[in-house]
Amino acid sequence: MAGRRLLQGLTSPWSVGFSAFGLAYGGYHVWDSTQSGTKYDLHEDLAGKTYIVTGATSGIGQATAEELAKRNARVIMACRNREKCVQVRRDIVLNTRNKQVYCRQCDLEDFDSIRTFVQKLSKGKFELDRIDGIVHNAAMMQSERHVNKDGIEKTIATNHLGSFLLTGLLLDKLLNQTNPVRIVFLNSNIIDRKCDLNLGDFNSEGAKKFDGYEVYKHSKLASALFSKELSERLKESNINVIVADPGRTKSNLSAQMDGQTFFLSRWLLKIVSFGMGERRTEKAVRPVLYALCDPETVDENGLFIDRERHAQPWNDIVMDAEKRAKLWNVSVKWSRLGDHLKQMKHELGEAAIQISNESGDKLTVETATAGGGEGRSWKTLWLW
Ligand SMILES: NC(=O)c1ccc[n+]([C@@H]2O[C@H](COP(=O)([O-])OP(=O)(O)OC[C@H]3O[C@@H](n4cnc5c(N)ncnc54)[C@H](OP(=O)(O)O)[C@@H]3O)[C@@H](O)[C@H]2O)c1
Repeated sequence: MAGRRLLQGLTSPWSVGFSAFGLAYGGYHVWDSTQSGTKYDLHEDLAGKTYIVTGATSGIGQATAEELAKRNARVIMACRNREKCVQVRRDIVLNTRNKQVYCRQCDLEDFDSIRTFVQKLSKGKFELDRIDGIVHNAAMMQSERHVNKDGIEKTIATNHLGSFLLTGLLLDKLLNQTNPVRIVFLNSNIIDRKCDLNLGDFNSEGAKKFDGYEVYKHSKLASALFSKELSERLKESNINVIVADPGRTKSNLSAQMDGQTFFLSRWLLKIVSFGMGERRTEKAVRPVLYALCDPETVDENGLFIDRERHAQPWNDIVMDAEKRAKLWNVSVKWSRLGDHLKQMKHELGEAAIQISNESGDKLTVETATAGGGEGRSWKTLWLW
């Protein structure tokens, strides 16, 4: 009698339901732990150091800002949405007890906003006495083609041209510092998959139907070419460049694409992503911290590391110096780097910059004293 009752209890829908839940929950954690990769923790005290993180209001950028704050760094959250930034900053300060976390507006698709951001860091009450690292993390993907106020498709504007301009405008300040600086770009191994640089349709106007994922892939490839070229041009300087792939990560990156897909395929995609090893941001941030602050990478330049922090080979397109140089010139032109530099220097009351001639993609900029006189400057390194 008691045995039959026990059996009934064990096979009741409630017990079966709870057991299934327990199994699934346990299974999830076992699977999740297999995605952790090798253990890694950054044991550095970053007190006195300053890092700029773009797109620090969600995903990997937010996790990066928090990890840096935890290690006592001063963190500049360069974000497009001020209200969101204030909320995220509040959580980071509460979690880390580090008040040296600051929100600064920087919308990477808006080139005037980038210039204002750099201007404020260069002079006045928000001036930074030093910068130890920049994390080019912000990125977006969109399901329909939208352009910024300059008529540039927003994915390429945000994911490549924005960080190109930001780096270009900051370069003098970084080169004039005595401390070493690390610039970290977040990228992805998707640039290895059926991807080529398409300068003929840089603004994604040509295709019959806009494919947000392909345009994202192209923008990340452009960013990779730029990172590699930057590392070449900055050899022997106080600045090192490393590219880190955080691996497939749970984040908001594809949220804009979600609205366009049927909810069942969305769920299917989530299950596939989970099965393929989508990681949590706490784990995805590891290669970023390794590239940015680990003593092991202090002398590395031009490296592309995977989610396990191993160096991986660049693909042939990134290794093509001619393509990199072409993209560089196109980026100077599309981001209007010369105009923004000129305006910024003027507003900062620095040396007068005169754009003396422009022929085709070539741009010559002359300045009396800009960027450390005889030493390295944006003039010698950036615009050749
Ligand atoms: N997730 C992955 O599987 C994966 C894999 C490989 C590489 N990555 C790379 O990792 C980086 C971080 O991605 P994530 O997955 O953490 O994405 P995410 O959660 O969508 O975060 C992207 C961040 O970029 C910001 N952002 C977007 N457009 C911006 C703009 N115009 N100006 C300033 N900030 C802007 C977003 O701001 P809001 O909060 O205002 O939206 C957000 O803070 C990206 O470079 C991505 O390509 C991601």
